[in-house]
Amino acid sequence: MSADERGFSTRAIHAGQDPDPQTGAVIVPVYQTSTFAQTAVGTHRGWDYARSGNPTRDALQVALASLEGARHGFAFASGLAGCDAVLRTLAPGDHVVTADDVYGGTYRQFARVHQPWGLAFTPVDLSDPAAVEEAWRPSTRMVWIETPSNPLLTVFDIAALAELAHARGAIVVVDNTFATPYLQQPLALGADVVVHSTTKYLGGHSDVVGGAVLIDDDALAERVGFFQNAIGGVPGPWDVWLTLRGVKTLALRIRAHCDNARAVAEVLHASASVHEVLYPGLASHPGHAVAARQMRDFGGMVSFRMADEEAALKACARFRLFTLAESLGGVESLVEHPGQMTHMSVAGSPLEVPGDLIRLSVGVEDVDDLVADVEQALA
Ligand SMILES: Cc1ncc(COP(=O)(O)O)c(C=O)c1O
Repeated sequence: MSADERGFSTRAIHAGQDPDPQTGAVIVPVYQTSTFAQTAVGTHRGWDYARSGNPTRDALQVALASLEGARHGFAFASGLAGCDAVLRTLAPGDHVVTADDVYGGTYRQFARVHQPWGLAFTPVDLSDPAAVEEAWRPSTRMVWIETPSNPLLTVFDIAALAELAHARGAIVVVDNTFATPYLQQPLALGADVVVHSTTKYLGGHSDVVGGAVLIDDDALAERVGFFQNAIGGVPGPWDVWLTLRGVKTLALRIRAHCDNARAVAEVLHASASVHEVLYPGLASHPGHAVAARQMRDFGGMVSFRMADEEAALKACARFRLFTLAESLGGVESLVEHPGQMTHMSVAGSPLEVPGDLIRLSVGVEDVDDLVADVEQALA
């Protein structure tokens, strides 16, 4: 059986992670070095300087590429550093059609880093083909999707958007942070690039910040690899080692996240204080059918709307087991108010999120304890 035909968890544990040939160490060592000895000028064992390459980072890149079914993987110091490298493959004058719900920091990078530099962005409802057609320009080169999106958990049809974009000569980038490769395989659905904040589910333990870009196409990968080295937003060896350790248990954790999130979503759905639950696993979610088709399960994120912002802020303050904090995807449950926390940077923009919204990252604690905490917070 070739390495690529192995199951998901086998690859998560073994791809790029053979025992160390020098010592037999079963776990890939942390190569804490900035440089590598050369036997003659320009003659080395594949690594010369640690910004350009490091064996610990290589292991993570190979593992993530394998999990996303990509030929090339690049690790970055953060998810946003990875997004930046992908956007730099465009040229001033190029146009990007983007979802009208993305992580606030991603939108801030679009609007305040790449737009002044010459790219143009049009946020639209990517589930409405007429809106996508209307936003399209002769200069459109890229469609940027988050699905499920942060924080509204909107689901977009990756295969349909890839078909539409490819027919018009554009590429599709999917931020797969919320779904992870265990639940959703964007490249197999037709996307060209996958980006991740590995800070979230891939790392999985809220102890490291990182990013990754996975690409099949050789020419595009060469450009992203060039920017990884030329701009230098690379992760250190300890950070990639922690991420690699997290990746080994991705499937186990995601299954537990999904089961717990489903139970929490049902409790919220039944609560009289909750106006709307945004969870793709509920049959009432507008993206439920697409999510059921393109995802293995519905993920660990649940958002919901209260009567108004005051009610949302009060509820956020009442959680005891769910910690009030930004970020997501760790084993512990978190609650946050996107309007005043993760998405403050989109206030006043077309992506402004409702003030009555609460976002939960449902962890892998015992489900009864999570449900009890949600019930007491809403009581
Ligand atoms: C969906 C998504 N993409 C990208 C990012 C940015 O990642 P990082 O914080 O690792 O730079 C985040 C961060 O929350 C996110 O939620």
